[in-house]
Amino acid sequence: MKRVLFAAAAALLLLSAAAQEEKPSESKAQEAKPAEEAKIPPEAAQKPNPVKPTEASLEAGKKFYSTQCVMCHGKEGDGKGDLAKEMDLKLRDYRQPEALKGLTDGELFYILSTGRGKMPGQGSRMPEEQKWNVVNYLRSLAKPKAAASSERTVVGGVLGGVAAESPAKPDAPRRIVVGSRVAEAKIIDKPLPAYPREALAARIAGVVRLKVLISEEGNVRQIEVISGHPLLVKAAVDAVKRWRYQQTLLNGELVEVETVVDVTFSLNP
Ligand code: HEC
Repeated sequence: MKRVLFAAAAALLLLSAAAQEEKPSESKAQEAKPAEEAKIPPEAAQKPNPVKPTEASLEAGKKFYSTQCVMCHGKEGDGKGDLAKEMDLKLRDYRQPEALKGLTDGELFYILSTGRGKMPGQGSRMPEEQKWNVVNYLRSLAKPKAAASSERTVVGGVLGGVAAESPAKPDAPRRIVVGSRVAEAKIIDKPLPAYPREALAARIAGVVRLKVLISEEGNVRQIEVISGHPLLVKAAVDAVKRWRYQQTLLNGELVEVETVVDVTFSLNP
């Protein structure tokens, strides 16, 4: 009997700890407002996904999804789970690539943590890495259709000879390498760097060359500095982090793009 009581007390403690970390004011605000209005802080939306969608990650994400999400979002992600029907929820069909297109990985991560509308958040009960696994799995539910792709850019012959990953692993995102001109033509949003004050004072100009990995969603996901003056590098990276690209399709599938970006700092523009 004593042991049972102890276990119950421990469970209560855990629960209250989780509730405290979940910022009660925010979840209340979300209940009151329609789900659509729930604002996601920009720094949360831009949070890069540190977990690669490897088979292991997708498998772990699927496992979690099958126990915690399937009752509403459905086995295939069609939004027709039993509980969704019971609660009369109208959920998106995640098999459609458009369904989650407008959301960044960071936004999915945030929604998963804090919940949305009638959906409970996972808060701090769930380790961060596991949340990213689920985000990766959600992305993998989409079955891109070549027919629906006419509005997006298809990379043409430029890619000839670039080996895509073996088709045996349909869940792993493919990555292609494109030249900087090709990538540049696909920039949607290109905030320019601020000229660092020390560099300006020291009359330092030049080019910062970066290797950039663009996610399937068109967000800059990884930056590696290839060359550049130390006083210029940070400003260049900070700017390029916020660049947004059009999505790239290869054979009807969204792919990650690796490219090289040159950011020029010129004293006499
Ligand atoms: C009780 C049913 C329920 C459960 C369980 C549930 N969700 Fe949801 N989910 C919802 C509802 C309702 C929305 C809000 C839909 C809207 O805003 O139109 C939603 C929205 C979302 C969104 C935002 C995108 C969208 O479709 O609006 C994501 C991502 C998401 N859920 C993922 C998950 C994941 C992952 C799990 C499992 C950890 C999960 N959900 C569990 C009901 C649920």
